[in-house]
Amino acid sequence: MAKEEWWASESFWRKNAIWITAVSFVVLIFLTFDTISQITAGGTRVPGYAVINHRITYEFNEDRNMLVPKIGVEEPLFGKKLTEDEAKALVTRGKLTTQAKNCMNCHTLLGNGAYFAPDLTKSWLDPSWGSKEIREQQMVEFLMNPQDRLHNTLGRRMPNLGITEEEARATVAFLKWMSSIDTNGFPANFVSIDQEN
Ligand code: HEC
Repeated sequence: MAKEEWWASESFWRKNAIWITAVSFVVLIFLTFDTISQITAGGTRVPGYAVINHRITYEFNEDRNMLVPKIGVEEPLFGKKLTEDEAKALVTRGKLTTQAKNCMNCHTLLGNGAYFAPDLTKSWLDPSWGSKEIREQQMVEFLMNPQDRLHNTLGRRMPNLGITEEEARATVAFLKWMSSIDTNGFPANFVSIDQEN
């Protein structure tokens, strides 16, 4: 009978399986904690909710070779400065509205959703809203009554989803906060509002 090679033995592969499972387990635990710190609001990539009190621009970063959100001077949403808790409540209300109205059925938010309509991850920074001064009001009006406004050149129209003014304002807060998240340049090819300031 031919001698069995070490690499063909059952015990070698059993030990391998045990070691690989054990090492992967440790690596996954490490990655879970590392990711949590990056995806939690107030963490390294996702700013706290009070970021909606500030100007947000999207600027090209030479080192990373991609567009990165930059938090600028104070520029409160709807002209009213909010505390972190108030901002959190507003953004949460907006998030719940996007879920209740199923925006993801047509749009994409942070990589989830459909591609029928524009990606909303950075829509706060979309130049189609016009100047900074009227942007938030334009967004509120669009969300409440989109059916007869052509927002971009897709040729498709967003239906009226029966969004109240309060829900629309909260949704705008959610969209502004989402645009401040460092998404590694995603979505690609997004052209933002003037990046000079
Ligand atoms: C039935 C599909 C559909 C649903 C559901 C939908 N939208 Fe839209 N939306 C569109 C289409 C199509 C456009 C682009 C055409 C236009 O201007 O109307 C659009 C455009 C937009 C824009 C402008 C995009 C930009 O880049 O600035 C925003 C913001 C927006 N939608 C937000 C929302 C939100 C928030 C919800 C959920 C509350 C939602 N939409 C639900 C189809 C949809």
